[in-house]
Amino acid sequence: MSTFGTQFCENFAIARYLDDQWQAAAIEPLRPLELHPASHVLHYASTCFEGFKAYRWPDGKAHVFRLPDHVARMQKSAESLRLPVPDTELLSNMVLDLVTRHIDDVPEPPSSLYLRPTLIGTLPNIGAAASPSTEALLFVLASPVGDYFAGGIRPLKLLVEDQRSRSTEQLGSTKTGGNYAAALGPTLDAKAEFGVDQVLFCPQGDVQETGAANFMLISDDEIITKPLDTSFLHGMTRASILTLAADMGYRVNERNFTVAELFSWIPKYEAALSGTAAALTPVGTVVYEGSELPVRDGPNVERLRTALQSIQYGQAEDRHGWLTPV
Ligand SMILES: Cc1ncc(COP(=O)(O)O)c(C=O)c1O
Repeated sequence: MSTFGTQFCENFAIARYLDDQWQAAAIEPLRPLELHPASHVLHYASTCFEGFKAYRWPDGKAHVFRLPDHVARMQKSAESLRLPVPDTELLSNMVLDLVTRHIDDVPEPPSSLYLRPTLIGTLPNIGAAASPSTEALLFVLASPVGDYFAGGIRPLKLLVEDQRSRSTEQLGSTKTGGNYAAALGPTLDAKAEFGVDQVLFCPQGDVQETGAANFMLISDDEIITKPLDTSFLHGMTRASILTLAADMGYRVNERNFTVAELFSWIPKYEAALSGTAAALTPVGTVVYEGSELPVRDGPNVERLRTALQSIQYGQAEDRHGWLTPV
């Protein structure tokens, strides 16, 4: 399968917000969009998106992971950008209708169908920096994606960045393009300078997350991660891993911690990144102030990843009702 995110199903779901209301959604052949060059999104970055997957189960059906939670996160993102908020039913049905149309494109695990709802402000007004887009376009892309770990699991190397941020205090939990734009420069700089895979953003020493995944520390009996606030994205994988960890008897410790605390713990704790793309990926090394430090290697990251993926793949009971059948 081609590189993540570059192969698309032939159709997409699309709906417009016009005249103060959402218009009926449709499934249409995927095509380039026609946008007025003055569209709000192109100047003032009024855009948000979601990312989640549908998995093929042994019963032959497709199952969408945590659909209502992703719809709710999209609604929160839209609200924070003062974009028209998609109705729950509208967005859920756009996703489900698209998966139904492309049911034969949902691959067997460990591959899956990645779904990408996107909302953009289309009001043609280049004088609207301080006013919201009252017109919008909502669409959902579907993209078959392969095994993230094809070629084996390679523990990641992270740069601990204690100065620069990936976002702002008010937009950190909004899934909006500007946050990725902010993280790109520091991430590319760190890759070039230190040969790392990702940057762990820890502004003023506060350990937050990487450019596209949440961060957690895991021992044989405890899991530590930052508690929810507006500074970082509230990952569904993070929430799911914490729930499963509690089910499996780990102590779940959501607390703020500093870079200094992180370094005092990494001899004893495994570290991992959580996110839709890779589920739970081990961190092998952290780079800080020019030194490379190994992180503990152990069985717990894999144990938790397997617990999550077994549910996603329909191999273990979905006790929390996370999967919507299509
Ligand atoms: C900035 C950021 N943090 C965390 C995550 C993980 O979120 P989720 O587990 O919902 O995929 C993502 C990926 O979507 C992300 O882009």
